[in-house]
Amino acid sequence: MQQEDMKQWLEMAVSCAKEAGQLSLKRLKHPLDVTYKTSASDLVTAVDLEVERFVVERILNTYPNHGILGEEGTIDRSLKGVHTVWVIDPIDGTTNFVHQKQDYVVSIAVYHRGEGVVGVVYDPSRDELFHAVRGQGAYLNGKRLGLPEQMSMERALVCTSIFWNQEAVKTGLDRTIQEVARRCRGLRVFGCAALEMAYVAAGRLDAYISLSLNPWDFGAGRILIEEAGGKVTRLNGDPVSFDKKGSILASTPGIYEELLEFMNGRLNW
Ligand code: IPD
Ligand code: CA
Ligand code: CA
Repeated sequence: MQQEDMKQWLEMAVSCAKEAGQLSLKRLKHPLDVTYKTSASDLVTAVDLEVERFVVERILNTYPNHGILGEEGTIDRSLKGVHTVWVIDPIDGTTNFVHQKQDYVVSIAVYHRGEGVVGVVYDPSRDELFHAVRGQGAYLNGKRLGLPEQMSMERALVCTSIFWNQEAVKTGLDRTIQEVARRCRGLRVFGCAALEMAYVAAGRLDAYISLSLNPWDFGAGRILIEEAGGKVTRLNGDPVSFDKKGSILASTPGIYEELLEFMNGRLNW
């Protein structure tokens, strides 16, 4: 992989995310066609599918041999032996898209031999573009992001996408999150993992905690946070494989160890 490849992948990811975001805004002017995936809390719209198809087609036109890992599965091809994979969430935060018509994003990441090299999160309603390139930093609308080394729990704004379900009770995450909320300045739940992780990279939030995220939810946000100087691991501190579903502990560096110790001391895996 050459620097020139990364530059071109970034250009492609940015142009796809921006165009896809504009398409989503256009579609919001008309009633949405909403269906349930697994339940009434798990929505998908015709726009999710249209946006994913649009992005996938553009990428494969230029890079026919690259792999695609997209939430809506509009292309079903094995990733075996494929070195460069585009990880796409066409609309992250579909429930927000349907209800609030904001606080949703387009998330696109490129992984090469398992390493995240390009991450792009585009928030169309605010026209905010977060991007990162491995070894070259993270940016918000072109302005370099950098997280401070120092932070304390009492000054931290922590975010979670906990579902108040049996899994949260079984693992003890429900009680643990309540304790985190008591120790920190405040707790937030935005319902859009990629946006929440981009906000950690930008220092608008100080940590993000999830029991279970899919690769397309964390793919780009993880690269943004790492390039801004933050940490992203599983909740038990294990490294994150780009293509595996699992928990996420994403944090500004100053409170990562404290949060990790706190999680490990309380959760039953
Ligand atoms: C969801 C959002 C949500 C997170 C869920 C994701 P979707 O993605 O990111 O914040 O808690 O785990 O599935 O379905 O809106 O793309
Ligand atoms: Ca998602
Ligand atoms: Ca989605």
